[in-house]
Amino acid sequence: MSNKQFDVVVIGAGPGGYIAAIRAAQLGFSVACIDEWSNEAGKPAPGGTCTNVGCIPSKALLQSSEHFEHASHGFKEHGINVEGLSFDVAQMLKRKNTVVKQNNDGILFLFKKNKVTFFHGRGAFAGAAGAEGYPIAISGPTTETITGKQIIVATGSNPRALPGAPFDEKLILSNTGALAIEEVPANLGVIGAGVIGLELGSVWRRLGSKVTVLEGLPTFLGAVDEQIAKEAQKLLTKQGLSINLSCKITKVEAGKNNVTVEYTDAKGEAQKATFDKLIVSIGRTANTIGLGADKVGLAVDERGMITVDHDCKTNLPNVWAIGDVVRGPMLAHKAEEEGVAVAERIAGQHGHTNFNTLPSVIYTHPEIASVGKTEQQLKAEGVAYKAGTFPFLANGRARALGDTNGMVKFLADATTDEILGVHIVGPMASELISEAVVAMEFKASAEDIARICHAHPSLSEATKEAALAVDKRTLNF
Ligand code: FAD
Ligand code: NAI
Repeated sequence: MSNKQFDVVVIGAGPGGYIAAIRAAQLGFSVACIDEWSNEAGKPAPGGTCTNVGCIPSKALLQSSEHFEHASHGFKEHGINVEGLSFDVAQMLKRKNTVVKQNNDGILFLFKKNKVTFFHGRGAFAGAAGAEGYPIAISGPTTETITGKQIIVATGSNPRALPGAPFDEKLILSNTGALAIEEVPANLGVIGAGVIGLELGSVWRRLGSKVTVLEGLPTFLGAVDEQIAKEAQKLLTKQGLSINLSCKITKVEAGKNNVTVEYTDAKGEAQKATFDKLIVSIGRTANTIGLGADKVGLAVDERGMITVDHDCKTNLPNVWAIGDVVRGPMLAHKAEEEGVAVAERIAGQHGHTNFNTLPSVIYTHPEIASVGKTEQQLKAEGVAYKAGTFPFLANGRARALGDTNGMVKFLADATTDEILGVHIVGPMASELISEAVVAMEFKASAEDIARICHAHPSLSEATKEAALAVDKRTLNF
C-alpha cells in the first residue's frame, strides 16, 4: 500500500474526527486525518470548534471571569480582603489562546504517537470508490489526493446567523468573536438564551457588562427539567443577567460602533435596544461545505445534516459520519463516543453509543447538568415515576465552600425504582453528573445510590440524599 492509500480516512479533526482516527489506529488500521483549521500563524490547529472556538476557550474564559467574581464578591465572606483588584482582558485572552494551543499541539502529538498521518487542508470526495477506496482530494496548505477504503466524515457545524444580519465578528458576533472581545462592552446584547448565550453572557457580565438576553421561546431552557430550569433562571437573573423570553427579533442593524436590535417583547410591544456588541447564539448548522457530497451522492437531509442510521452509517458503503454533522445533540463527548464506536464497527466490533445516558452541562455558575429524562418528558410519555430533590443548602461541604445554591433531583421508575433521569443545578454539577451517568448505564435503582457510601463532607452526598429523597428518606433535610 502506498503512502497515499489508507484503510481509514477521517475528514475533520474535531473531537469526533481526531478521536475516531486515534481509535482506528489503535485497532491496527493505517489512518489519515485531514483538517483545514489554521491558527493565526497559518499552522495546523486540529481540535475543531471544540478546541479552537468552543468548549476549551469558553471554559478558559469562564474560569478567569469566575476567579475575578470570587475575588470581587466571594472572598470577603472568607475573611480575605482584596484591595485594588483589577483585571486584564488582554492577559485573559492570551491565557485562553495558550490553553487552546496546548490542546492543538496535544492532538498533533497524539497523531504522531498513534501513527495517524495528518494532512492540513480541506478534504473533499473526488469521485466514486475504486479498488483502493474513495479518492479524497486535499486542497489548501497541502494539495494531493489520497484514498481511503473507509471514510469517516466529521466536519462539524457552523454558527447560524440571523437572516439579514451576517456575522462581522466586530459588532455582530458568533462564538468566534464572542471569545475574542478585547474590551469589556458596557452594553452587551445576546440573542438566544441557549448554552452559548448563557455561558458567554456570564463571562462578560462577570467582567462588568450589562447583559441583555433576548430569547424567542416563552420557556427558559425548554429542554432542561422544568424545576431545575426555573431555579437556574432565578439564580442567573439574581446575578444580573437580564433574561427576556418570547422576544421576536424584527431587525438587527449594525452601525459604526454599535448594533440596534428591534423586537417585540412578551407583551407584543415593539422595543428597540442598542448594544456595543451583539452575540447571536441561536443554534448551529451542520457543515458539509466543500465536502463534495454531491460528487458521490452522499445523502444530506433538509437541515443540511448527513443522513445516518443509529450506527452512523451513511447511504454509501464504507462511508460513516459522526458528531455535529449528523443528528443528535451537538456535544463534544457525543462526537467522541460516535468516533470510537465507528472505528470499532469498522474493525468488526460492536461499538457502543447510548443516547439515553448522554450527559449535558451548561457551565454557568452554578452549573446545570443533566442525564436521562426530564420530569416533563416522563409526564408526556405517561411513565409513572417518583421524584426526589435535595438542596445544596443542606449539604455541609457546600456550606463550607460558601456555594449553597441549587439542588440535585432524581427521577426513578415508580415500580422498579430504576433511575430515569438526574438533574442538577449547583456547584460542580459537571463532575457530580458522572455518578448518575454510571448508575444509569448500569441500570441502577435510586436505592442503589442511596445505599452506597459517599465521602463526607462532599458535594456528592447531595446526590445520595436526592436518591434517598425519592422514597422520602432524606437524612439531612
Ligand atoms: P468540530 O469540532 O466542528 O470539528 C470539525 C472539524 O472539521 C473542524 O476542525 C473543521 O475545520 C474541519 N473541517 C470541516 N470540513 C472540512 C473539510 N472538508 N476538510 C477538512 N477539514 C474540515 N460541547 C461540549 O460537549 N461541551 C462544551 O462545553 C461545549 N462548549 C461549546 C462552546 C461553544 C462556544 C461552542 C460553539 C460549542 C461548544 N460545544 C461544547 C459543542 C462542541 O464544540 C461540538 O459539539 C463539537 O466540537 C463537535 O465536534 P465535531 O468533531 O463533530 O466537529
Ligand atoms: P442552543 O440551541 O443551545 O440555543 C439557541 C437558543 O436560541 C434557543 O433557546 C432558541 O430558542 C433560541 N433562538 C433560536 N432562534 C432565535 C431567534 N430568532 N430569536 C431569539 N432566540 C432564538 O444553541 P447555541 O447556544 O447557539 O449553541 C449551539 C450548540 O453548541 C448547542 O447545540 C450546544 O449543544 C453546543 N454547546 C454546548 C455547550 C456545552 O455543552 N456546555 C456550550 C456551548 C455550546
